[in-house]
Amino acid sequence: MEIKGSVAFVTGASSGFGADVARILAGMGGRVVLVARNLGALESLAAEIGSGGGEALAISADVRERASLDSALAAALARFGRIDILVNNAGLGYFGPIETMSMADFDTLARTNLYGLINATQALIPELRKSRGTIVNISSGLAWRALPLLTAYAGTKAMVNAISDGLRLELAPQGIKVLCYCPPAADSGFGERSLKGPGMEARGMGGMRMARSEDIAARIVAVIRAGRRQSGGGFLRVMNFFAPRLLDRMFAGMMRSFGSQR
Ligand SMILES: NC(=O)c1ccc[n+]([C@@H]2O[C@H](COP(=O)([O-])OP(=O)(O)OC[C@H]3O[C@@H](n4cnc5c(N)ncnc54)[C@H](OP(=O)(O)O)[C@@H]3O)[C@@H](O)[C@H]2O)c1
Repeated sequence: MEIKGSVAFVTGASSGFGADVARILAGMGGRVVLVARNLGALESLAAEIGSGGGEALAISADVRERASLDSALAAALARFGRIDILVNNAGLGYFGPIETMSMADFDTLARTNLYGLINATQALIPELRKSRGTIVNISSGLAWRALPLLTAYAGTKAMVNAISDGLRLELAPQGIKVLCYCPPAADSGFGERSLKGPGMEARGMGGMRMARSEDIAARIVAVIRAGRRQSGGGFLRVMNFFAPRLLDRMFAGMMRSFGSQR
């Protein structure tokens, strides 16, 4: 897909992958609609993109609320007149065992990662139909293989993969492409912003290798340009296919060290 001249609606653009995807798309001549709740962060990114000669519009919206996305879309259309790309990137993590997770936390997780994606998708389909546009859903390597203590989050991302597969076929007759990318763990600060279960604040994932956020963003843009239907997932995807029991043994070690800290 040609980025130059296109208009991309990027959710979760106030930090991490979303902000970096917006920077890259704007650098390639795309116009970007920056959507998240933190308007200050979006406005400073829009100013940065503007000072580099790009075009960006900052709009505060909560993806959990459809009305909020409808207003964001109206503002985007008033400025740019069309939408070619939807990057469904806004997301939230949860760190902690299922046993002690409150259903209020699960509700927040599901509303952000699932309702948010469906809200944005439903709101933008009419515009993407007109432009024969592209949706890219940002899932996770954990969609292919859940890790302990990230179980609930992994569950939401497994559903993002399933939604992407079905939606791809539902929207193909309308000329809309649906893509899904599963990033590895990255240094965006996502882990620090994740919800934490009771007593989990002080614990970390310990020793997990982190990709750079800007490298992941470059991969997301490559996925959009190439129209790659399902990609990423790397180590967890391959290992879970060929050696799932070996992964069980590896992750059992994580749980042993968790248990010894109890
Ligand atoms: N970093 C990783 O290790 C990793 C690995 C695999 C997949 N992912 C996925 O990649 C995506 C981006 O994550 P990231 O690493 O870039 O983390 P991040 O920096 O924490 O970005 C998350 C973004 O989502 C936005 N957001 C959260 N709740 C929202 C809401 N209710 N309404 C609107 N925007 C909301 C946040 O903005 P506001 O708070 O301003 O609303 C922020 O811009 C997520 O879907 C995540 O699950 C991350």
